[in-house]
Amino acid sequence: MKYILAIDQGTTSSRAILFDEDMRPTASAQEEFTQHFPKSGWVEHDPEEIWESVLTTCRAAIERSDGEVTDIAAIGITNQRETVVVWDAASGEPLDRAIVWQDRRTSDFCAELRQDGFEEELTRRTGLLADPYFSGTKLKWLLDKHEGARERAEQGELLFGTIDSYLIWKLTGGKRHVTDATNAARTLLFNIRENAWDEVICERFGIPMAMLPEVLDCADDFGTTEADLLGAVLPILGVAGDQQAATVGQACFEPGMLKSTYGTGCFALLNTGPDLVESRNRLLGTIAYRLDGEVTYALEGAIFIAGAVVQWLRDGLGVIESASETADLAAKADEGHELYLVPAFTGLGAPYWDAEARGAVFGLTRNSGPAEFARAALESVGFQTRDLLEAMHADWTGGEEKVLRVDGGMSASDWAMQFLADIIGASVDRPEVLETTALGAAWLAGWRAGIYPDQETFAELWSAESRFEPTMDEAERKRRYAGWTDAVHRTLTR
Ligand code: G3P
Repeated sequence: MKYILAIDQGTTSSRAILFDEDMRPTASAQEEFTQHFPKSGWVEHDPEEIWESVLTTCRAAIERSDGEVTDIAAIGITNQRETVVVWDAASGEPLDRAIVWQDRRTSDFCAELRQDGFEEELTRRTGLLADPYFSGTKLKWLLDKHEGARERAEQGELLFGTIDSYLIWKLTGGKRHVTDATNAARTLLFNIRENAWDEVICERFGIPMAMLPEVLDCADDFGTTEADLLGAVLPILGVAGDQQAATVGQACFEPGMLKSTYGTGCFALLNTGPDLVESRNRLLGTIAYRLDGEVTYALEGAIFIAGAVVQWLRDGLGVIESASETADLAAKADEGHELYLVPAFTGLGAPYWDAEARGAVFGLTRNSGPAEFARAALESVGFQTRDLLEAMHADWTGGEEKVLRVDGGMSASDWAMQFLADIIGASVDRPEVLETTALGAAWLAGWRAGIYPDQETFAELWSAESRFEPTMDEAERKRRYAGWTDAVHRTLTR
């Protein structure tokens, strides 16, 4: 039996999963690591702690599996995107902590870019927006902070990478400084039309191009691991940012296919095929995957708070003890009671992009209690998904997709998924293998290794474990969505 080792390096934990020849998860390990919040709006990770957690989980997963390390045919890596690491090219020592995608410290510089009218240029070249979310302005911030860092980067003494790139560098003992096209596409420095680092943007941000990694396909030769790390020399053959890996794992290979992943936040990606669609509704244009040099593009919408709203019910309000109680509590809510919770705890993402907005609740009465809050919290995820789909349908003329494929922690809730189907008025499919992100990375590596089927067969093999059909009547759907839209608009600051 051959295996593929998938490394899923996420925002709050690192996981390693071994998939067997039938693409089924057989052994796994997970480890959380420290979140650093040095100032309001700042989020940092320690790159070395991340690296340690990856090594530990890989070793533990291998230990737990029935096979031997030599049975592993290849490694696939998927990762939290946009997070910035800069390290010393000789020693591997990080220059500073990693600045995490959620970090807002560069919002003033982004405002400056918008005022200067440079955002349009950025969007045309990268598909993204002048927002602190992406890597480029964070990298600039690090180079500004550390005296002499720019000069060292120009000399090739300092390297930049997103987490995938840093992990590959470590795994290969510093032999490879590479990334894949999907991770590059999130940096705000990569021209997704030309598939090359963008000189104009690098110049504007003062980023020495010598510090940028080489950009490869998602299924490619990313190097081999040092023998002493995992007990064998293993090839790294697949890499994709986590949301793109989930798109692959959901087999959304045809234009018009759509997936939505519910973690802390929610990320929806619509496959738009070989053409980059320019959003008129502030969605992101991005690379879904690049295989054999061919780019498939996607429209992406990101919501910052999805599963995190359930954490807030637990840790902030204290109305539940564990996340699994939410749906039962929501089901007890008074039917005649309409509470709208806009979870803009850290601002609002797509399609509003209002960093200053904060959470709000509308429709409170004396009867509003824990059950109504639980229901409003779960419903807010459905409503926000509908916002994204509305924007996607306005941008995408390739036909309205009738099925949304879902994954991630919150997709396990039948109640939340039924409401989602009801409010978007379309079917919601939940796959058999819920480890979709890791599966995507595993498939990329396994396909390249020649042990997994090609794209077409993989798509045929994909199957839903459950389908949720809309049962809400059209008038009710319209009325509820209008209630939400009104609540959001009363929450916006601009
Ligand atoms: O863009 C950020 C995204 O890649 C993070 O995903 O699952 O680690 O929260 P996750």
